Amino acid sequence: MSQKAYADLITQLKEVSTLSSCASMLGWDERTYMPKKGSKFRAEQLSLLSGMIHEKFTSPKIGDLLGELGSSDFVKDDTSVEAVNIRETQHQYDKSTKLPNDLVKELTKVTTLAQGEWVSCRAKNDFKSFLPWLEKVVDLTKQKAEAYGYENEPYDALLDDYEPGAKTEEVVEVFANLRNELVILLDKIKGAPKKPDVSIVERAYDVELQRIFGESVAQAIGFGFDEGRLDVTTHPFCSGMGPGDTRITTRYNPNRLNDALFGIMHEAGHGLYEMGIDKENHFGTPMGESTSLGIHESQSRMWENQVGRSKAFWKYFFPQAQRLFKSSLEDVELDDFYAAINNVTPSYIRVEADEATYNLHILLRFELERGLMTGEIKAADVRDQWNERFKKYFGLEVDKDANGCLQDVHWSAGLIGYFPTYTLGNLYSAQFFNKAKADMPDIDQQFENGDFLKLRHWLKDNIHIHGQRYRATKLVEVVTGESLSYKPLVAYMNKKYGEIYGF
Ligand code: CO
Repeated sequence: MSQKAYADLITQLKEVSTLSSCASMLGWDERTYMPKKGSKFRAEQLSLLSGMIHEKFTSPKIGDLLGELGSSDFVKDDTSVEAVNIRETQHQYDKSTKLPNDLVKELTKVTTLAQGEWVSCRAKNDFKSFLPWLEKVVDLTKQKAEAYGYENEPYDALLDDYEPGAKTEEVVEVFANLRNELVILLDKIKGAPKKPDVSIVERAYDVELQRIFGESVAQAIGFGFDEGRLDVTTHPFCSGMGPGDTRITTRYNPNRLNDALFGIMHEAGHGLYEMGIDKENHFGTPMGESTSLGIHESQSRMWENQVGRSKAFWKYFFPQAQRLFKSSLEDVELDDFYAAINNVTPSYIRVEADEATYNLHILLRFELERGLMTGEIKAADVRDQWNERFKKYFGLEVDKDANGCLQDVHWSAGLIGYFPTYTLGNLYSAQFFNKAKADMPDIDQQFENGDFLKLRHWLKDNIHIHGQRYRATKLVEVVTGESLSYKPLVAYMNKKYGEIYGF
């Protein structure tokens, strides 16, 4: 009997996912090739689709099937394909049906307006005018957390949207330790005897050559162009449409090599995760989906940083880069280039931050938004709290709100609970990469030879293939034998920057 219920559930889920993939395709087109005047009609198309998707997924029929399957033999072994699909669908179903319709509508309305207000307040550096909107979003977000329910604190319920199963108290201590270590590291870098010459990567870099180089790098790390695309957008992203179709985007700066190159490696890292999941067999079900945003980010960060900003990688690629960008790189030594792409400079803007300071930006936001949810911090105090912490962590006085608490769209969009996934990704990536190196001690030699596919397959076999079999914290334990820790990331950074900066 439950055989049929399971088969019915899978059929329903695949239809929901196929509809969702149509929405993704329209979203991708909107951001890449759609003519400007198409935006109003596109909004109608997407709104109709998202209504259909929500209605289909939250239908009582799915609830009935889950009810029947939840007590069947299918869930006995909790890592079996069937048990995973039932468990994670139940989790999503509960979340989707818990929010009252009025709250969902109010959240959509307020965050749409708040984003518009945020744009104009940011332009005027006017936190005061944005404050009533921040207060509304915070209030509605608290209501959302209450509607979801939580064990320990409201922030748990929000974090769970992006990092299912993660508990705030588990990350608080790891993050605080990381923050302390990073502040020390930054001090060492500031006082270091050696300084990279960053102007090397700020010369003229022909955009078409950047595209050719970026594509060859993406290809080398396993991003196949018969199952993927690379296009241009203002805000780069990766979209895993479905089996055999994964798309990434980037943006080119004719006077900076780093933006597009490491952007492509980052998005290709996301893309490799999407490609590595067994979508042929599991598309549309939790086994055919990534397990969390943090794990997704660990994949992008590994290719961008542990691989793309390593000496071994450039021993192979630098001669090619020199041939392509002859006038800008022919007089440059590998060591100087390597130092330039790893330059660290504390700065105001998160999205432009280097590898070492990036997490400090995230930790600051995490502390504030968690405080907003517990009530320890009032929305009215966000600017002062931000600036005070920024001074403490970065050693810089924030000069204007656009460089401070008004720089990110997230809070106006209601995305409270999202920021930690960036830092979790960096932590996980260091832990995974350590294990990959332990399994493949010749990994540097592989990179120097231009062989990146062994790492690609390692990631696929150890991480991608599991889909949502394990939640993120469990996956790290299964893969590395250790739980979430700040130590591997800190050790990696201290070693790398110690060599580059000479401390
Ligand atoms: Co990313």
